[in-house]
Amino acid sequence: MLKISIVIVAISLWAVCCFVKVNANSKDSDNEPDFPELMKICNASFSIPISDVDNFHNTGELPDTSDKTGMCYIRCMWEKSGLINNWILNADLIRSHIWPATGDALDVCANTGIDEQNACVRTYMIARCLMMRSIVDAQNKPTV
Ligand SMILES: *[C@@H]1O[C@H](CO)[C@@H](O)[C@H](O)[C@H]1NC(C)=O
Repeated sequence: MLKISIVIVAISLWAVCCFVKVNANSKDSDNEPDFPELMKICNASFSIPISDVDNFHNTGELPDTSDKTGMCYIRCMWEKSGLINNWILNADLIRSHIWPATGDALDVCANTGIDEQNACVRTYMIARCLMMRSIVDAQNKPTV
């Protein structure tokens, strides 16, 4: 009986040790945003067709801005991924996920819609500016 308990305790300790380790490792090894997971989270709150997202990636514009759902989806993605935080663009993330922005593009786009009161609309204006620049300036297809 005692032997069995010791074995069970040993197995539990091993499980705790190693699961924690695996979790810690997977967190440490990538500080990159988990875009597929964020898409699920953002789509749960602001549901838009995947074709609208594709359209945004290909043209820089959402096909439907008759309500703010799509714009709020974009805001959700950009804020949760850290591409933008308190209206400050994360240049490194944008360069690695959207395009190797050069010159004043990030500053110009960050200031787009500065007078817009609605946060979803303002974020969309900034994102659209960056997407359009990326489409025009480079042939890199944005991954966000
Ligand atoms: C959001 O969810 C709906 C319903 O499951 C799905 O049809 C749509 O393609 C999803 N959109 C995105 C952007 O993932």
